[in-house]
Amino acid sequence: MKITVIGTGYVGLVNGAGLADLGNEVTCLDIDDEKISQLNAGKIPIYEPELESVVKKNKKNGRLKFTTNSKEAIEQSSIIYICVGTPTSGNDKSADMSYIFSAAKDIGTYINDYKIIINKSTVPVGTADQVKRIIKENQTNDSEFVVVSCPEFLKEGTAVNDFRNPDRIVIGVDDKKAKEILTELYKPFETLNKPILFCNVRSAEMIKYASNAMLATRISFMNELSALCEKLNADVKMVSKGMGLDSRIGSKFLQAGLGYGGSCFPKDARALVHMMRENECSSGILEAVDSANERQKTRALPKIKKLIDDLEGKTICILGLAFKPETDDIREAPSLVLINQLVKEGAKVTAYDPVASENIKKAIKYDNLKITNDPYSAADGSHGIILVTEWNEFKELDYKRIQKSMKTACFVDCRNLLDPEEMRKMGFIYSSIGRP
Ligand SMILES: NC(=O)c1ccc[n+]([C@@H]2O[C@H](COP(=O)([O-])OP(=O)(O)OC[C@H]3O[C@@H](n4cnc5c(N)ncnc54)[C@H](O)[C@@H]3O)[C@@H](O)[C@H]2O)c1
Repeated sequence: MKITVIGTGYVGLVNGAGLADLGNEVTCLDIDDEKISQLNAGKIPIYEPELESVVKKNKKNGRLKFTTNSKEAIEQSSIIYICVGTPTSGNDKSADMSYIFSAAKDIGTYINDYKIIINKSTVPVGTADQVKRIIKENQTNDSEFVVVSCPEFLKEGTAVNDFRNPDRIVIGVDDKKAKEILTELYKPFETLNKPILFCNVRSAEMIKYASNAMLATRISFMNELSALCEKLNADVKMVSKGMGLDSRIGSKFLQAGLGYGGSCFPKDARALVHMMRENECSSGILEAVDSANERQKTRALPKIKKLIDDLEGKTICILGLAFKPETDDIREAPSLVLINQLVKEGAKVTAYDPVASENIKKAIKYDNLKITNDPYSAADGSHGIILVTEWNEFKELDYKRIQKSMKTACFVDCRNLLDPEEMRKMGFIYSSIGRP
């Protein structure tokens, strides 16, 4: 099928490349000239494992193209995905819909025959109706079209694999013909026995917010519990293991840490709160989830201050800057909060991340912040280390070497990645989250 994907970010690029890999002819459209030039030059603007090879392969065989030309991209395809951003907007913390509405306006302006518009961005319930209205308002002909909702559930860091092996595909569609075409488009997944849930458009829009809000709730619940574990000498890692063995609960998203970040959970939880308030429904649970998360992001500072009481002039090394491992995404990352706190305390910060350094350099600039190219030079001469992102490579570091290179070997492991006993045996003054 001929497909256009509007918005070539984490979701759009992965879906565009994945759909091309399934044999479709895909054009990825973006308003960001630099991004499109990079992609046309064979460079991948984001870090996402396995993505480069899928993009290269399908670009080479002519099934995947990149453009900034909205007219051409919209006219030539019968299926159009909207994958633009929906960040938090203004004081009411609702979803900023301006990118969606601008994409809808472009579709309306250039629509030339029957098209299915698939909204993949995470959007408030009722958005499909608004997109439909905007397309109609801008249309200069009577081409028919249908707006459906197909929310995205991929995880950054495993996005390509998630595209190929989704837990489920949710398609919200209220139109028979569009349902038949989409059944055909998603047939490869049906043959792989991946569940496809058809429902009405509004339920699909709600499923996405509800799923992210539930995952965020689990994380905040464990983070609050971790503080109690510390007071009562229980081990949150064991608590989470014991809970997860219950098949009604399951083990995923039960790890205490430094709070969730990224471009989804924080903004989606807030947008759902906004939707609840707007519809005069109680939003207490989710409001608490959000504020517990904001509190959690500040918990590393008191922990390092317990080990080093005056941070003025001291060097603190941060291991991990991305909001989670296997991504370069730093949106709402706990590391940003921590760096600001440490700099305010007068500390010098050295930091290392396998892939997110460039994004951090663009986002914050402090004279007292130095980003290094390897973990050993970040730790060298420091008074304390705070492990913020649980990259696998941090499990394998030569901590004996690191311990020897530090001025004082204080260590706060905010992801409970390392073994407390081993770390203490090596001479670290070690503290973690929710463990005795
Ligand atoms: N990143 C994730 O892990 C993830 C997972 C599931 C769902 N989502 C949702 O998917 C949506 C996209 O997220 P993302 O992380 O890919 O965003 P992103 O910021 O990485 O990419 C969005 C892209 O859209 C482009 N864009 C904006 N307006 C445009 C327009 N009018 N025409 C063409 N291009 C336009 C931007 O230039 C940018 O390249 C969001 O609603 C997000 O909540 C994201």
